Amino acid sequence: MAEKGRTQAVSMTGSAPCKTVLVGVTGCIAAYKTCEIVRLLQKAGVRVKVVMTEHATEFVGPTTFRALTHETVAVGLFDDPSDPIHHVSLAQEADAFLIAPCTANVIAKIANGLADDLLTTTALATTSPLIVAPAMNVNMYENGATRYNIGKLHIRGVRIVEAGDGYLACGDVGRGRLAEPADIVSAVLEELGVRRDLSGRHVMITAGPTIEPIDPVRYITNHSSGKTGYAVARAAALRGADVTLVSGPVSLPAPEGVRVVRVRTAREMLAAASESFAATDIGVFAAAVADMRPKETASRKLKKGTADADLGTIELVENPDILATLAAGKRDGQVVVGFAAETDDVVANAQKKLATKHADLIVGNEVGEGRAFGTDDNEVWFVSAEETYDLPLMSKDRLADEILDRAVQFLG
Ligand code: PMT
Repeated sequence: MAEKGRTQAVSMTGSAPCKTVLVGVTGCIAAYKTCEIVRLLQKAGVRVKVVMTEHATEFVGPTTFRALTHETVAVGLFDDPSDPIHHVSLAQEADAFLIAPCTANVIAKIANGLADDLLTTTALATTSPLIVAPAMNVNMYENGATRYNIGKLHIRGVRIVEAGDGYLACGDVGRGRLAEPADIVSAVLEELGVRRDLSGRHVMITAGPTIEPIDPVRYITNHSSGKTGYAVARAAALRGADVTLVSGPVSLPAPEGVRVVRVRTAREMLAAASESFAATDIGVFAAAVADMRPKETASRKLKKGTADADLGTIELVENPDILATLAAGKRDGQVVVGFAAETDDVVANAQKKLATKHADLIVGNEVGEGRAFGTDDNEVWFVSAEETYDLPLMSKDRLADEILDRAVQFLG
């Protein structure tokens, strides 16, 4: 590892990445609204798993939630023969447990520690924040028993998203309507400790390698896995941003709530990034763009030893510099973060790139055998006009939040 510059304490309070929220659905007509809650949570970058009571399945089928979440949907305590303690594994997996809608019956059970099905046993087994969004008939909601049980849950630290007033499915008018899905999701994100400081902001990220074809079977590329750029996209979505991820060919799944534009070559990446850049508040250029491409791409496989190919000599031309091109035209208030991938003199090279690429921040990192490319952790320098400092080795998820924290400071 190259010599490090001055070490400075950095904020480690970024929002944690890739949270899992377990959504419990109970037997209530408002169960259909849980589909919207699931969708909004996913849009916020959260992974969602669903557990239902038997009665809930009378209102919305598990297939609907399976299709929405791409996860198995748990109903019966003994449904999963591979997991004899399903309620405990579900509880452990969840960073938060939301029950929405929650009936008077289930409120009463969890308020009194009763656990006679998968949902209620999971609620008892969870140590993560529990959020309850009741929905029921107005008289049931106002009944002293229900109010007492809700009070008990409240005292125990359960977050209650109280029902709203309005027209109820039973025909009555009054309190008992499931709270608005957006308000329920806000409460969940708050319980997860997620800052929504990028709400209303547009963030564009380039990620992964580009590939530059020589012929239909060969190409020039590099070792970028896309992990860094995808982590930034995930973190930005979780913090409320509208995110566009321009991705070279990688084998990573699309992050929840992120618009992914898939490209192959540097020129395709430039075209896709140019489309989004004007509306972008923060641009993070994490892609390892091939600097050069073959001057010609053969339409047929080049055969060694034949007259049409000298495989020892491939003429290269320079690719456009996506970061430098777009950042040169950046408007006031736009923040641009670039990277510098170096084998030597990381800080000096990063400082040069800060100026030549018109960036507000350069994230310098040392690349090479087992470093930066494809790893889950990275150790980087932050280089800006004001200061240069190094960050300790950290996960790329954590680094993503550090980058966004710094970008938010530039936004002012
Ligand atoms: O994807 P991972 O496996 O997680 O690996 C992470 C990483 C090593 C790819 C990442 O940390 C990183 O360093 N990304 C930038 C890689 C790179 O191409 O660095 P560079 O020093 O060659 O380029 C400097 C900057 O200009 C980068 O922001 C790059 O995206 C941009 N660039 C470069 C060339 C080009 N033609 N167009 C560009 O936009």
